[in-house]
Amino acid sequence: MKSSKKFHTSNPEPASAIDRSVPDIPAAQLSDEDRYFRAHKPPQYLDEIAGLVQEFVDFHAESGKPVVLVTSGGTTVPLENNTVRFIDNFSAGTRGATSAEYFLEAGYAVVFLHREFSLLPYSRHYSHTTNCFLDYMTEIDGKIEINPDYAADMLKVLRKYNQARESRSLLLIPYTTVNQYLYTLKAVAEIMQKLEAKALFYLAAAVSDFFLPSSRMPQHKIQSRDQEGGKLVVNLEQVPKFLSRLVENWAPGAMIVSFKLETDESILLSKAKSALDKYQHQLVIGNLLQTRKREVVFVTPDGETKWVKLSAEDAAADKEIEALIIPEVVRYHQAWVRQHSS
Ligand code: PMT
Repeated sequence: MKSSKKFHTSNPEPASAIDRSVPDIPAAQLSDEDRYFRAHKPPQYLDEIAGLVQEFVDFHAESGKPVVLVTSGGTTVPLENNTVRFIDNFSAGTRGATSAEYFLEAGYAVVFLHREFSLLPYSRHYSHTTNCFLDYMTEIDGKIEINPDYAADMLKVLRKYNQARESRSLLLIPYTTVNQYLYTLKAVAEIMQKLEAKALFYLAAAVSDFFLPSSRMPQHKIQSRDQEGGKLVVNLEQVPKFLSRLVENWAPGAMIVSFKLETDESILLSKAKSALDKYQHQLVIGNLLQTRKREVVFVTPDGETKWVKLSAEDAAADKEIEALIIPEVVRYHQAWVRQHSS
């Protein structure tokens, strides 16, 4: 056999063993995100959830179906370990639950990571109305039946719901606190890595920006009589921005869509663009609190901005903005898959 150039990695290289001109390598720094996971425990049920997600992803990977992770709803920030009080935000999960239905219609399998007791796909049509659920029923000949006024619409929703169940295309994963959200997002993303470009992340949840670290969290209910001057002063820390971890480490290869919520229109586009610069993902959907159910803006890394709005007729016909958002997102994702399959 012809021998290749002779070298042994185990041999010392005396000439370059000590080079004083090379500066010391600084000790590896922990990122804010790593520090967060070191300082906070995972939820006890995480392995169980990971098992369910693994099964779901394996099942759909086999058929080649694209899988989207939809995050939905607000996150809570507990102020006590035995939580009586917590900080919350406005999100009801309408965007996430509605979007999940349109993704299912578009042929996606959906992992729906949602705030527990916020809106769910399909049941949202009945859980978030001013009607009491009993209004949907009526008594005929001593038996409960669906009120005929609602039956035709309910049948349409029921068929879609059954279709999602029978095709095993919808997996509901709950969270409540921001800590549960972050750990679950990481676990699901790592499992979805095997889907590569066919994985889509649609991050509609309103994640708390501030939290109380567990090291400073009281074990029991805060007593009002113990507060100086009768005031409760809470000192919150910033939740690290995990989007970079998602893009770089947890879901490389996937397409990532984040949302940007503002209340001041004059800063919406610049905030969306700076999110793309900072996190290097593929799409930001900007929305304003006041108009979020009627219009959104798509912002891409090449600087393109595109407003998607319901027309007056659409709004009058109760059309949902997600019926316009999802086909657009799907188009971007299909292009992403094509770009990464060659
Ligand atoms: O539920 P609804 O009532 O229908 O309302 C829908 C909505 C307005 C909540 C939704 O459309 C929306 O805009 N969601 C994102 C709102 C938001 O809180 O954005 P943000 O600026 O905090 O975060 C921007 C992105 O960064 C998010 O997509 C999030 O995934 C990410 N992020 C946020 C915090 C954090 N610690 N790490 C993150 O990676």
